[in-house]
Amino acid sequence: MKNIQDFARARSDGRKIVMLTAYDYWSARLLNDTPVDCLLVGDSCAMVMHGYPDTLAATTELMSLHTRAVRLGAPDLFVVGDMPFLSFRGSRDRAMDCVQALMQAGAQAVKLEGAAGHLDLVQHLSESGVPVMGHLGLTPQSVHALGGYRVQARSQEAAQRLVQDALALQQAGCFALVLECVPDTVAAQVTQQLDIPTIGIGAGPQVDGQVLVLHDMLGAQPKFQPRFVRRYGDLAGLLQGAVGRFVEDVRSGAFPAPEESYP
Ligand code: KIV
Repeated sequence: MKNIQDFARARSDGRKIVMLTAYDYWSARLLNDTPVDCLLVGDSCAMVMHGYPDTLAATTELMSLHTRAVRLGAPDLFVVGDMPFLSFRGSRDRAMDCVQALMQAGAQAVKLEGAAGHLDLVQHLSESGVPVMGHLGLTPQSVHALGGYRVQARSQEAAQRLVQDALALQQAGCFALVLECVPDTVAAQVTQQLDIPTIGIGAGPQVDGQVLVLHDMLGAQPKFQPRFVRRYGDLAGLLQGAVGRFVEDVRSGAFPAPEESYP
């Protein structure tokens, strides 16, 4: 995917959009040579890369640094940069500084969580030539208000509110919408009502695309196994196995061999 028109085309052609998180140069470089459509420099990097318990620790500086590394590694992929906690809830100037930092670091779009209270910012960004991806359902930056990481929009009332928020984000100019941890029927309903593509994570199959955290799908964090993650690898096993063999070889004298040494 090269631009936001490709997202619209994917939806109208019925071709599923595939997005993965990326936070660093080396994984972005590998991902650049895969058929994935799009990379998200998610604020989940605060947890996955830096060990924080939630995403609230992400800052504009942190997100810009990771976005730049991903852009350098994946020059051919569409890159979305996540607006960190509260960066878009203060003054317009502060929000614009954050957007400018992310876009100048190499993002082609920004993503922000929620709708109420910043629809005017979404519209301003869209009118300023900044593609905006929305994010509804479980919005991890609100984890303390939500009372934990749990499925959202379970009641009919909450589902209706979600649909209204999704329509409002579309109206304000969002080009795509992430739906996180909502019942599959609710995600299907939102997807039917919108013209823009929906990208689900824990939102069932009736959406226009799927996103996962790269480290989760690679099995890099084996103890973290939410219901919506399918594991496609055993990166933890691969890394620990390889390091174990290396340590053994060094200690036994099997490494380095003559052909790995300079005569
Ligand atoms: O930060 C992130 O990784 C995200 C995805 C879970 C959608 O927002």
